[in-house]
Amino acid sequence: MARTDPHSHFDDLQPRATRWHLRLLADFDSRILAGEATLMFSGPVAGILDLDTRGLAIHRVWVTLTGVEVPHELGPEEPILGRRLRLRLPEATHGVSIAYETSPEATGLQWLEPAQTEGRRHPFLFSQCQAIHARSLVPCQDSAAARVTYDAEVVVPDGLRAVMSAGPAGDEPGPVPGTRVFHFRMPQPIPSYLLALAVGELESRELSPRSRVWAEPATIERAAWEFAGVEEMILKAEGLFGPYDWERYDMLVLPPAFPYGGMENPRMTFLTPALLAGDRSLVDVVAHELAHSWTGNLVTNATAEHFWLNEGFTVWAERRILEALHGEEACLVAWAIGQNALEESMERFRDQPELTLLRTHLAGVDPDEAFSSIPYEKGARLVAVLEQAAGEAAFRDFIQAYMKRFRFTSITTEQFCAFLEERLPGLQRAVDAQAWLDGPGMPANAPVFRSARLDRLTGLAQAWGQGARPDAGAGGWSPSELLVYLQNLPRALGPEDCAWLDRELGLTGRGNYEILVEWLTIAAASAYQPAFGRIREVLTRVGRMKYLRPLYAALGQHPATRELARAVFVQAAPGYHVLARRLVEGVLAGYPA
Ligand code: BES
Ligand code: ZN
Repeated sequence: MARTDPHSHFDDLQPRATRWHLRLLADFDSRILAGEATLMFSGPVAGILDLDTRGLAIHRVWVTLTGVEVPHELGPEEPILGRRLRLRLPEATHGVSIAYETSPEATGLQWLEPAQTEGRRHPFLFSQCQAIHARSLVPCQDSAAARVTYDAEVVVPDGLRAVMSAGPAGDEPGPVPGTRVFHFRMPQPIPSYLLALAVGELESRELSPRSRVWAEPATIERAAWEFAGVEEMILKAEGLFGPYDWERYDMLVLPPAFPYGGMENPRMTFLTPALLAGDRSLVDVVAHELAHSWTGNLVTNATAEHFWLNEGFTVWAERRILEALHGEEACLVAWAIGQNALEESMERFRDQPELTLLRTHLAGVDPDEAFSSIPYEKGARLVAVLEQAAGEAAFRDFIQAYMKRFRFTSITTEQFCAFLEERLPGLQRAVDAQAWLDGPGMPANAPVFRSARLDRLTGLAQAWGQGARPDAGAGGWSPSELLVYLQNLPRALGPEDCAWLDRELGLTGRGNYEILVEWLTIAAASAYQPAFGRIREVLTRVGRMKYLRPLYAALGQHPATRELARAVFVQAAPGYHVLARRLVEGVLAGYPA
């Protein structure tokens, strides 16, 4: 082979780095990470080594042990890929060191002003490397097919603390007065997209002997309460998938600009503070990120074209954990919420059916542009169909064997299929796995998750126009059931209907962002003026793209709300993550002229 990943210059015929040593200084004034990356090989190597970079300034490259200069050349900027850094390693090179710095516009970093934090006194920095942003932090073989262990030293201003997707290895006063240096060691091999760093004013609370949560002081008590049940989740997950292999499961609650709900950075899951609903109703995101400790972090998609192996398995795993914790009915509601997301994504990709395959072909396509609920929900449904056809017990054995066989490796859909055929011969054919993997849309044997309770909820919502109303303020509904109800309501609604909903169901004041945002999209699509203030507030405060996309899209339907959306964006955009900004720009560009 040679190049194996359409999104990386990684070439499996070239030397392969197996360990990184990072020495970085976080300069909040210039918004630059500056320092050295050393890439170590498992033995002596020589010849051409191509690395991925984006926005990096390369100062010097040398053989680590001898200091001998290494000839290098930075290629032209390519769309999606960034710039190739080609090194010519002399004979018997064991390690190569690169002095470099990041760009203030690094796509994998967001530098926050104090005003964007809860405490408002200190700045904050966080990384988000998936899918292909690690190259904007470190010159590296930025393909999920290449795994590395790492250690790191990060110098930060006094009063701030650094955390990474690694084990802490001590801290001490830094090289310059007014700084502190934090050491990390990551002994388990990870793909580059799982490199993670955050720096801020952080405190922690113990949740169990192997888990603690980190957050800003102003948020830490709420975070500790919300996620107190994490050990129970880990135990359930271990029962399903085998022992937890990463020693610790810590979590970090980020400032609200974090563009995702959660990111499964090993040993340190990153989470949006929008999960702090005050009633533990959004902890399914923790179940999801935790489940990635098996599906994704242990067994990893080789490239973004096999992303469903990460996310489809993880959604399925998340729901098995949820079922073990809260029973079958709660699990069915989660599948119903997922169905809604799946249908929205299918609709969004109506004119790009090639993005509705599970096994995608992404040469020339930015993985961030291909992102949708399809690998998640279509993928999880394929896993569920396989499970159903195999039988629960046989499938559990299969999953455990799968984890064992591929742990700490990165695989393709084809490798998964070969292993499936070996262990459960004929199963793929029986469920027509090929239609799922290589065909667009949803196959005919897609499972439908229903229950009498769910049918009542959706029926009630769909009969809104005929005057059906939930009685007694929907008192007996769980937050997820209320969400299903809202998702199934017709829109747009008239102002009286909106007022009724808000009054009877107490929507505008909700702390559960799933419910709040669903309600606000109804209000936006209905041009319901009394909700505009809250819409503005949410869009300026929260950077989670899952909320920005539907809200801005719903605001596109009326001239008055389009004006609101444009005005809010001008105000909010400087606080958005670069990916969130791009996403919203795309939505606004799609508004009718
Ligand atoms: N790994 C993803 C987030 C991600 C995917 C970031 C691709 C960048 C590129 C994470 O595990 C995830 O799926 N998060 C979801 C959680 C949800 C499915 C429970 C999110 O952020 O909404
Ligand atoms: Zn995920």
